[in-house]
Amino acid sequence: MKILALSGSLRAASINSAVLRVVRELAPASIEVRLFTTLGDLPLYNPDLESAPPPVAQLLRDEVASADALLIASPEYAHGVTGTIKNALDWLVAFEGFVNKPVAVLNATPRAHHADAALRETLITMSAKLIEAASIALPLPSANISEAELLAAPELVSLLGGVLTQIECAVNQSPAMKPYLDSSLYIDTQHPAIVAQAAKLAVGCADEEEIAKRCFEFVRDEIKHSWDYRMNPVTCTASEVLIHGTGYCYAKSHLLAALLRANGIPAGLCYQRLTIDGDQPPHCLHGLNAVYLQQYGWYRIDARGNKPGVNADFCPPLERLAFPITNPLEQDLPGIRAEPLPAVIRALTENQTVEQVYQNLPDIAVSDQ
Ligand SMILES: Cc1cc2nc3c(=O)[nH]c(=O)nc-3n(C[C@H](O)[C@H](O)[C@H](O)COP(=O)(O)O)c2cc1C
Repeated sequence: MKILALSGSLRAASINSAVLRVVRELAPASIEVRLFTTLGDLPLYNPDLESAPPPVAQLLRDEVASADALLIASPEYAHGVTGTIKNALDWLVAFEGFVNKPVAVLNATPRAHHADAALRETLITMSAKLIEAASIALPLPSANISEAELLAAPELVSLLGGVLTQIECAVNQSPAMKPYLDSSLYIDTQHPAIVAQAAKLAVGCADEEEIAKRCFEFVRDEIKHSWDYRMNPVTCTASEVLIHGTGYCYAKSHLLAALLRANGIPAGLCYQRLTIDGDQPPHCLHGLNAVYLQQYGWYRIDARGNKPGVNADFCPPLERLAFPITNPLEQDLPGIRAEPLPAVIRALTENQTVEQVYQNLPDIAVSDQ
């Protein structure tokens, strides 16, 4: 696997360039980290030169095209990204080989959050696949620290080792997993509010299991179940659920899937067919999630929100669902879906209030499955 590393600083003693050299030093034999050291030779981007880019711009494009992932470390200048990194990205805006490229962003100056946010926004706008789990702020003791000192700091070495692992995971996701990582109309992973919340939840996490647990607990505990709390509006897309802080089980499962996917963790939707009240029909669908954890495979989780008698939890490989199936009239619908069932979308978009949704809870004929 090849990672192309870009530093947004031209300073000889740049801490960002030093961090990237340390990453190269730490990379195992299976990962080649190539530093592109001539960003300073790029002329200012001019769209008139698109058809015949100057040699150094062509070299950058060739290196990007042949890389499996990009790793960017760049300082903040006057609350913005540096001209160096912005100019390099401008040369890649119209370049097909950049689209869908997995990219991780390191922030070597955690207080410099303006440039970090602006860089992420630019990358997402350029259709890069931001690897959230590998995009971290580094707790450096000072900006004047040598490469040898960086390599001698165990916490930093462990964080940068984790960055390499997360990039490798993101690159090696099998094509079969792609639908479970995609952004879509209802699981709108690339919405800025989702991207920001996903990044916030991943801060300080040691591995994907910890990130997944935090995402689960956030949706279970911080997002109110619309019927438990009789809380409007009726939400459907992941970003609506996050922004309004409420959703039915189905909508909450869209948010959890989006937060997990934004962190590069494959996530899908599962359904159960439950009786609405007691041991007899009528039935309704219940929405929950499955998350793919490297260590355990697919693992079902239910973030609808706990209440007396409902105690869902995240404790892989043990499954702790809100409604374990014990009644022969109820069932787990087979399969893990990348997108919501149409009946669920109808219920959440054609009803105006949470009371109306409750009167028209979605169901599915068993033969339709
Ligand atoms: C022209 C200039 C503007 C800067 N503006 C900011 C800023 O707005 N916010 C900030 O946190 N640091 C700012 N800094 C500090 C740099 O981000 C910091 O020195 C960083 O370590 C430089 O990265 P480098 O060592 O990779 O060159 C600025 C530095 C320079 C030279």
